[in-house]
Amino acid sequence: MKVAGKVVIVTGASSGIGRATAILLTKKGAKVALTARSKNKLEDLSRDLPGSLVVAADISREKEAGQMVSLVARYFGRVDILVNNAGQGYDSPVEKTDLKKLQAIFDLNLLGPLVAMQKVIPLMRKQGGGVIVNISSGTSLMYLPNMGAYSGLKCTLNAISLTAREELKEDKISVSVVYPYITATDFEENTLKEDFEAEWEDNGREIPPSDSAKYAAQKILEAIVTEKAEIFAHEWMKNRKGT
Ligand SMILES: NC(=O)c1ccc[n+]([C@@H]2O[C@H](COP(=O)([O-])OP(=O)(O)OC[C@H]3O[C@@H](n4cnc5c(N)ncnc54)[C@H](OP(=O)(O)O)[C@@H]3O)[C@@H](O)[C@H]2O)c1
Repeated sequence: MKVAGKVVIVTGASSGIGRATAILLTKKGAKVALTARSKNKLEDLSRDLPGSLVVAADISREKEAGQMVSLVARYFGRVDILVNNAGQGYDSPVEKTDLKKLQAIFDLNLLGPLVAMQKVIPLMRKQGGGVIVNISSGTSLMYLPNMGAYSGLKCTLNAISLTAREELKEDKISVSVVYPYITATDFEENTLKEDFEAEWEDNGREIPPSDSAKYAAQKILEAIVTEKAEIFAHEWMKNRKGT
């Protein structure tokens, strides 16, 4: 889908990949609804993004995620593109995984995107089509120690996204998954963590350097424009199954 003139919702727009995506899509001529919890950060960003709208919402709460979509639709009269980007990490060995923290990242990383999808799908169907891009993670392609809960939820997001893609083909609604690689944002700092001894085993492999948020945003734009099912931050990630 071409981006110019389109109405886009970007969740998690107050920071990192979401912020860079909102900036890039505005440059490409989109009208962007900026959503996250930090209203002040969104308002600061909005001043530099002509045509943007600020909708402060906690996406992990079903009611707020739904209301956010309704508000955007009412303001702009339509929603063409949804970028489900808000998310948080959780580092913990399986043995120590705390159920309350698991529930919190479940609500944010899975329930929020699902509710937003369920709200935009009928709107997009009525409009004759749309694009949904869900931000997953390269970790969902691997079995990395201490990332079971986080990557497991991203795996579920992948499955829901690619299933919805099949279900919504006839409605001309494209659903894509973007797999970012390690990206230099506040993500690591914001990641929930248990207390454990991390033993990083790289098995002699070199770890490629992190990507920038701008680079990840380009990949999200690529998903919107090409409407491909899956976009990997790097080609080598496609075959990076396993540990
Ligand atoms: N950075 C990486 O290395 C990396 C790698 C692979 C995948 N990813 C994925 O990329 C996405 C973006 O991450 P990032 O790197 O940009 O991280 P980030 O800088 O920590 O940004 C996270 C965004 O999510 C928002 N958010 C958090 N909790 C929220 C809630 N309850 N309701 C609404 N918004 C909420 C935050 O805004 P507020 O705090 O203002 O609410 C912020 O805008 C995530 O889905 C992450 O899993 C990141």
